[in-house]
Amino acid sequence: MTAQIIDGKAFAATVRRQVADQVARLKSDHGITPGLAVVLVGEDPASQVYVRSKGKMTVEVGMNSYEHKLDADTSEADLLALIDRLNADPAVHGILVQLPLPGHLDEALVINAIDPAKDVDGFHISNVGLLATGQKAMVPCTPLGCLMMLRDHLGSLSGLDAVVVGRSNIVGKPMAQLLLRDSCTVTIAHSRTRDIQEVTRRADIVIAAVGRPEMITGDWIRPGATVIDVGINRIDAPEKGEGKTRLVGDCQFDSCAEVAGAITPVPGGVGPMTIACLLANTLTACCRANGLKEPEGLTA
Ligand code: GUN
Repeated sequence: MTAQIIDGKAFAATVRRQVADQVARLKSDHGITPGLAVVLVGEDPASQVYVRSKGKMTVEVGMNSYEHKLDADTSEADLLALIDRLNADPAVHGILVQLPLPGHLDEALVINAIDPAKDVDGFHISNVGLLATGQKAMVPCTPLGCLMMLRDHLGSLSGLDAVVVGRSNIVGKPMAQLLLRDSCTVTIAHSRTRDIQEVTRRADIVIAAVGRPEMITGDWIRPGATVIDVGINRIDAPEKGEGKTRLVGDCQFDSCAEVAGAITPVPGGVGPMTIACLLANTLTACCRANGLKEPEGLTA
């Protein structure tokens, strides 16, 4: 293996420490405690794990955490009424509605009911538009985490060729916008892209965000490129014993690491950065709501 490993776990811990320092300063200098409300509808096990983890880390950095757990059959009207209350609550600076929502709820309607200034996921249509037009937005957490790691590893991204593999609203599209804002030449590749390996092989930066286990192999990567693997896929691992599983990314780690200059591992790469950026976004939203200077290095 030749690639440098980009340690997202350690970087996320540093980001959380920076957030905690700023939260302490907000409290001591202004008497303000940032608050994050997380809304979970139903009992999806993976969502329950995420929400628990978000709540724990919110409290660890000194913020207030408000968890709202609603039954799976909650009506759209009741969910929208809760969002209205949270929008109006001055103690709540960030609101996150955990996705996916149960099928009877209209996700776009619910997300667009959140006050854009409190939309710490950056999914509200206003924030999508603000980001696309280079204005001050709330930026989706996973792409923000990827951008922070890239800037930390590469310094200026100006003029670099970046290929984002995957065109989701949550990762691929906002990631492309952020890279464009940092003056990369950006290509979005996807399942219909012709000669996709040729496209990725031209890139200085490859962002893998397709949700297909180990799809990208070393021969897709240009020697020395920086590879950010957003995928978190659970696959069978019979070598670990009957019924065992393991987590892998969208990149086949060993073959990509032979060729890349740097690569994020799975787990321990992008994953921990997502929650760290959620906390950073909550801090940013709190500063903006109170007319205070935004935290440096924690925004796009
Ligand atoms: N479900 C999986 N990832 C996310 C995320 O980043 N935000 C929300 N709200 N739900 C998710």
